[in-house]
Amino acid sequence: MEEFNNNIAIEMKNISKSFGSIKANENVNLTVNNGEVLALLGENGAGKSTLMNMLSGIYHPDSGSIFVYGKEVRFYSPKEPIKLGIGMIHQHFKLIDVFSAKQNIVLGQKGTFVRGQNLSKEIKKLSDKYGLDVDPDKKVYDMSVGEKQTLEIIKVLYRGAKILILDEPTAVLTPQEIKRLFKIIKNMKEQGCAIVIITHKLNEVMEISDRVTVLRKGKSIDTVETSKVTVPKLIEMMVGKTVDLSIDRTVVPDKNLLLEVDNLSVVNHEEGHSLKEISFKLYGGEILGVAGVAGSGQKELCEVIAGLQKSEKGRIFFESENIIGKTPRDIIKLGIRMGFIPEDRLGMGLVASMDMVYNLILKDYQLQPGIMLKKKASIEKAKKIVERLDIQTPNIYTPVSRLSGGNIQKVLLGREIDSNPKVLITAYPVRGLDIGASYKIYELLNDQKKNHVAVLFIGEDLDVLLELCDRIMVICDGEITGIVDADKTTKEELGLLMVGGKQMEVAND
Ligand SMILES: Nc1ncnc2c1ncn2[C@@H]1O[C@H](COP(=O)(O)OP(=O)(O)O)[C@@H](O)[C@H]1O
Ligand SMILES: [Mg+2]
Repeated sequence: MEEFNNNIAIEMKNISKSFGSIKANENVNLTVNNGEVLALLGENGAGKSTLMNMLSGIYHPDSGSIFVYGKEVRFYSPKEPIKLGIGMIHQHFKLIDVFSAKQNIVLGQKGTFVRGQNLSKEIKKLSDKYGLDVDPDKKVYDMSVGEKQTLEIIKVLYRGAKILILDEPTAVLTPQEIKRLFKIIKNMKEQGCAIVIITHKLNEVMEISDRVTVLRKGKSIDTVETSKVTVPKLIEMMVGKTVDLSIDRTVVPDKNLLLEVDNLSVVNHEEGHSLKEISFKLYGGEILGVAGVAGSGQKELCEVIAGLQKSEKGRIFFESENIIGKTPRDIIKLGIRMGFIPEDRLGMGLVASMDMVYNLILKDYQLQPGIMLKKKASIEKAKKIVERLDIQTPNIYTPVSRLSGGNIQKVLLGREIDSNPKVLITAYPVRGLDIGASYKIYELLNDQKKNHVAVLFIGEDLDVLLELCDRIMVICDGEITGIVDADKTTKEELGLLMVGGKQMEVAND
């Protein structure tokens, strides 16, 4: 006799779901308990979002059953799961920009007449209970990505969610914002909520989850207790074989100076200087890493080189020509490209509703007129990029918005690399990518380097910076605190430089 264990929040049994010929989920099983954090792990395209979207009523399984608190359910609209206490935070936020936090929270709450005063009180109560921090009157367009996410969480909690599903919530957050989110998750867990989190960062899985369910190519592989598993074992479960996680750092002889930044300062109106008198050289045939706590001036550095941001003083030489004052278009023409991964993957850089071919035309259009001519070339390019970066898409005419987050990122970077740049500037290119895809990107950057491209790599994972880069420049509060050879430094030294220790002081230790 089957007995219902009343500690179980959700049980999914033998779930299958196909899109045309693609079997996104095949006989998948998943259980989440109350007061537990379950990590759902798998490579890009493994079927994680599809599975969770069946819990939020967006998709309906072809076969299999779903139980919520022991009762079998069939969801035919996103409203039904909400009534049962299931809330999902999607990869791409669904907030209305011009509305305030408060307005977004009550949005779509039909039939509930809410007075402003009560609502503010209610929000305050929820915020205190779970340690959430959001200004009810702030407009969404004024919010950082972290604030928007917090608002999404408040929104589902306000609707009474006791089961929270987070689809790659950390992919676009800064380390500080991740810390805050994990605190919220821990609070919810203590209150007895059930939480499913999808993330590619295995250190996060180890830190936050109680159990891990691994999917591979649409099938459930296994569920294990986090405390009884190791990172290499998780990777093996995900990929299906042991993976060599090492990056070859080839040294390219005959480096030539391509970019020289000289005494450059950028002023940010509210907060003073975002870059202060920075000077460095970037050579063709090297990867120069940039390490720093998020918000230390990385964004401004990219933007000022791209011509998108004004400088207060200083010069930037490209092949001995000062490019300060040139338009972004002229700078692109010189061969300086940004494989710049915007915070919000679909907000910038790509037109989500259009396919890859169109997005490639879009980027090149400003350089060479003649849309018809470009179309043929773009089709070829799109095919090449799909193959080279192993992009998972039904075909090149699929709207970019239908691709998974990691694949969108590959399209963005692939587009820049394909233009044969002389200088390639890339910020956080592997955010949201699975292990396999991340190493593919590192390989691509290494190939660029071997082709004598000068690569500026803004990174966040110190291990990767140390393995991939030739030199690492550390910035703190807009100032360079040190430029070190990657094979002569340590994580500890980088950490000290990141919080403002000067290189000399570190060396004297
Ligand atoms: N709406 C859809 N139409 C067609 N194919 C889809 C759709 N949603 C997902 N897929 C496909 O299903 C597979 C699993 O996708 P997804 O669940 O998004 O993976 P994950 O979240 O693990 O990266 C992928 O091959 C993806 O291209
Ligand atoms: Mg997904």
